[in-house]
Amino acid sequence: QPVSPCDFVVLGGTGDLAMRKLLPSLYLRDRAGQLTDDTRVVALSRAGLDDQGFRAKVRGELARFVDSSAHEERSVDRFLERLHHISLDFDEPADWPPVVELLGCDPERIRVFYLACAPSLFGPVSHRLHEQGLVSEHSRVVLEKPLGTDLASAEAIHDAVGAVFEERQIFRIDHYLGKESVQNLLVTRFANVFLEPIWNAHWIDHVQITVAESLGVAGRGEYYDGSGALRDMVQNHLLQLLCLVAMEPPTYVNREDVRDEKLKVLRALRPITGADVTALTVAGQYAAGLVDGAAGASYVEEVGLPESRTETFAAIKAHVDNWRWAGVPFYLRTGKRMDRRCSEIVVTFKNVPHPMFPGSEGTEEPNRLVIRLQPDEGMRLHLTAKEPGPGGIRLRPVSLDLNYAQAFQTSSPDAYERLLMDVVRGNPTLFMRRDEVEAAWEWTEPILQAWTDPRHHPRPYPAGTSGPSAATTLIERDGRSWHESSL
Ligand code: BG6
Repeated sequence: QPVSPCDFVVLGGTGDLAMRKLLPSLYLRDRAGQLTDDTRVVALSRAGLDDQGFRAKVRGELARFVDSSAHEERSVDRFLERLHHISLDFDEPADWPPVVELLGCDPERIRVFYLACAPSLFGPVSHRLHEQGLVSEHSRVVLEKPLGTDLASAEAIHDAVGAVFEERQIFRIDHYLGKESVQNLLVTRFANVFLEPIWNAHWIDHVQITVAESLGVAGRGEYYDGSGALRDMVQNHLLQLLCLVAMEPPTYVNREDVRDEKLKVLRALRPITGADVTALTVAGQYAAGLVDGAAGASYVEEVGLPESRTETFAAIKAHVDNWRWAGVPFYLRTGKRMDRRCSEIVVTFKNVPHPMFPGSEGTEEPNRLVIRLQPDEGMRLHLTAKEPGPGGIRLRPVSLDLNYAQAFQTSSPDAYERLLMDVVRGNPTLFMRRDEVEAAWEWTEPILQAWTDPRHHPRPYPAGTSGPSAATTLIERDGRSWHESSL
C-alpha cells in the first residue's frame, strides 16, 4: 500500500546517515511501490550541489549501499527524479527562501523533516523551520540519536524541539525498534500463549542481553570518543530490548500502549549508584589483538587519542524491581571489536524442582530460550531429552530451532525502511517518547558519572575477544555464565 504523498526533507542530506541508510531505504520503499508519484526527497546541506550534482552523487552511493539484487537501473532512475538538493547554512535566514519556494505552502501536505545533523542543531533548526513558516500540523520531525549526552542535555533538546513541534509530531529514532527481529520479540511474547505464564520470577532464573559487534570505531572516532558504549548502545538499544522483554502486555500494540508499558519498566529499574557501580558494572576498552586472523589496532590507536578512557565495552547487572521480575537479574553486555557480531536475548529458566530420574542428579540443564536478533534471526529452545537406547534413562540436552530466513523464505527489510514509512503514517509506536528517553538517561547517569571520574579506567581486552575478564567474573560470581551462542 502506498503511503500518503509527502516531502522528505533531510537536513544533513549529504551526510553518512543519509547516504548509507535514509536514501537507500527510501529507494527500496519506492521500488516496492510505497511512494506516490508526487513524493519528493529534498536534501539540505552545505555541499554546494545542484539537483543534477546531488543525483549523480546519490546514484554512486546507491550502487554502494543497496544490495545488488535490489539495484535496478529503471527504479534508480525513477527514484533520482524525486531528489532535490538545496545548499544552505541552517543558521542563515537569507538562505532559506529557495527551500520555502520548493516546498510550497500547501498546509495539508505531509512534510517529514529528518534531522540527520548534530544534536546541538536540533533546537535551532526546529526554530528556523518554524520561523520560515514550514511547520504545519501535518509536519513531523525525526530526531536521530544521540539525544543528548545526559539527562540535562536531553531535556534541553526536547524543550527546544517541543517549542515548535507537538509530541505527536516528534519521532525519536532508535533503529533497533525497527528491526524485524525486535518487532518479532513482541509477537513471540504476545501472539503465543505458552510463554506468558512462565515469563516471570517464578520460572525464570535470569536474562542476558548481548549486543556484540566485531567492528571497531574506525572513521567514527570523533563522535564515539565523546560517547562510549554506555551512551552509544546501553542507554538506548539495550534498554529498549530490556523493556520489550520485561514489559507487561500492552492493551494493544499501537500508539501509546507499548510506550506506556516500556516506561514502567524503565521506572522500575533499580538505580545503580555509589559502590554498586563498581560491584555491578564493568567498562572495557579494546587493546590490540587479532581481528579476523590479522593484527588489529587498539582503540586508542584507531582514534589517535593515546589518553582516551572511553569505554568500548559495557557489562551491567540490572534489576527490574517489580512484582513480575523481583530477584531476576538482567545481565547486559555490549562491545566493539568482539570476537563476532551477535545480538541475542537469552532467557534461562529455573531448574526442575526435583531430580526424579535415577542417576540424573546434577546432570539436568535448565531450559533456555535464545532469541537471536542478528546476524541471522531465529530462536532456539534448549530442552532435555532422553538419550536413545535401552540402557535406562540418560538425559541429554537437545534443541528446537527456528531460523526465520528458512521458515519464511525471505530476507528482512532494513529497520529504516519500516521506520520511515511509519513516520509518514504518523505511527509513533516504534519510536521513543520523551519520557522514555529521559527515564533511560536518569538510570544511566550515575553509572556515566562514575565512569567519567578521572580515577576510573576501563579494563583492557584484546580486540577480537569476548571482552574483559571482569565481565566474566560479574556473572560467574553469581554461579552463572555468559551464554556462548552456537546458533
Ligand atoms: C548505532 C551505534 O546506534 O548502532 C553504533 O551508534 C552501532 O555504534 C550501531 O555500531 C549498531 O547497529 P546494528 O544495527 O549494526 O546492530
